[in-house]
Amino acid sequence: MILAANFKTNHTRKSTAAYLEALELFLDASPAGCDIRVYPPLSALLRADLYSHTKIGAQNFYPAIEGAYTGEVGAAQLNEFDIKNVLIGHSERRALLKETQEFIAQKFAFAATQGWEIIYCIGEPKDVRDSGFEAVAEYLWGEFDGIDISYDKLAVAYEPIWAIGTGVSAEVQDIAKVLDMLKDKLKDTPLLYGGSVNADNLSSIISLKSCDGALIGGAALDVANFCKLIQIAQK
Ligand code: 13P
Repeated sequence: MILAANFKTNHTRKSTAAYLEALELFLDASPAGCDIRVYPPLSALLRADLYSHTKIGAQNFYPAIEGAYTGEVGAAQLNEFDIKNVLIGHSERRALLKETQEFIAQKFAFAATQGWEIIYCIGEPKDVRDSGFEAVAEYLWGEFDGIDISYDKLAVAYEPIWAIGTGVSAEVQDIAKVLDMLKDKLKDTPLLYGGSVNADNLSSIISLKSCDGALIGGAALDVANFCKLIQIAQK
């Protein structure tokens, strides 16, 4: 089971340090028995090797070791923080930062050469969802173009775009249908769900047979809330 907190553009270095300190204390006292990951903003990255229960990851990177990529962060910069896991393909980067499937595939291939753990995000917009399950399946498989699904450090997060940050999660039976479809092809790759996960719906989502965890935004921003979600997963 993977429980991952995506901070997006929230928290500072100072508040991230306090968050991780509280999270580690909580996990010291009640080990999660699952894979806990936190993705702070790049400016708030802390040395991943200093935390024993939590994996710290990068929300973004440029697919190069270093070089002339103004404003970007490459492997040399992430290595300094011992970061070994990354998010790729998040819908906010696809939509707001105009990351194309081709560029995303480049990032994926680069991350794989670095041996990083990857949470690869996919998800359909509302109009596709409204067109029915077949349309959703076709859209989601399109987001695997150029992606090596046999990469052994891969987890896939299904995050329907219309469910992200809206407070309206997808219906559990719809999540089940999509995750079952993905599991059929992705076999042993862990599958996460993301999109308005909270303390009320986490349990029913992670109980689904094809669900191996959750990628959580808003409900994980407060460390006490994230600990509560971990407690729910422990049950
Ligand atoms: P919310 O949990 O805020 O809907 O965000 C989900 C998400 O985008 C995680 O990557």
